[in-house]
Amino acid sequence: MTAPFDLGETDRLLSTTRAVRRRLDLERSVEREVILDCIRLSQQAPTASNTQKWRWMVVMDPEKRKALGEIYGRGKEFIEQAKAQVDAEDKQTHRVYDSAGWLLDHMGEAPALVIPCVEGRVPDGAPGGMAAAVYASIYPAMWSFQLALRSRGLGSTLTTIHLFFEKEVAALLDMPEDVMQVALLPVAYTKGTDFKVAKRQPPEEITHFDNWST
Ligand SMILES: Cc1cc2nc3c(=O)[nH]c(=O)nc-3n(C[C@H](O)[C@H](O)[C@H](O)COP(=O)(O)O)c2cc1C
Repeated sequence: MTAPFDLGETDRLLSTTRAVRRRLDLERSVEREVILDCIRLSQQAPTASNTQKWRWMVVMDPEKRKALGEIYGRGKEFIEQAKAQVDAEDKQTHRVYDSAGWLLDHMGEAPALVIPCVEGRVPDGAPGGMAAAVYASIYPAMWSFQLALRSRGLGSTLTTIHLFFEKEVAALLDMPEDVMQVALLPVAYTKGTDFKVAKRQPPEEITHFDNWST
């Protein structure tokens, strides 16, 4: 097979783009241009009916980051509740929750806090297909944004806890009511760039060809 890309590099990018928390370099600033470059790349992602209703809120002002970090930190109880339900043997997930707990206390220190948004809200009681079309018109772009960051030596973590306090965040950032926030990503250069492939279930165990029962 002759691949049109350098598979060694693209596969490394796809398999080692991790949720980065403790290894975010909180001391090093991030240039606006690099964020715009990554957003530019993210805009090549698919959207339902080519709507392209993505909007990005980037918070770099120190006071606003601090305020946003405080709001995010209120999510502690959600993390603790979720962690309490994890099987004691599941070491990988326990490590994730420990790391997520650390981020709760440090979110506001990241040099850039990025909130991917969609213009327009999912109406209350909307059928699953409609909600899927809205969320799926920003999630691929978010992941492209994260991959583009990683390829430039930056890291991020997709988080959603602040959405419980979305209205407060909108007020802080003067965001209109019809702009739906979808996530909050701390963005920074990473301390080192060697990230590992995570352990996952073999694809053969989660994939069905032609018939669910085979
Ligand atoms: C929808 C979604 C919500 C997430 N919310 C949070 C969050 O609130 N806080 C956090 O620290 N990580 C959050 N994560 C990151 C996951 O914990 C992380 O992707 C997962 O543990 C796998 O780790 P990896 O990406 O490094 O392989 C979220 C990820 C997704 C996809």
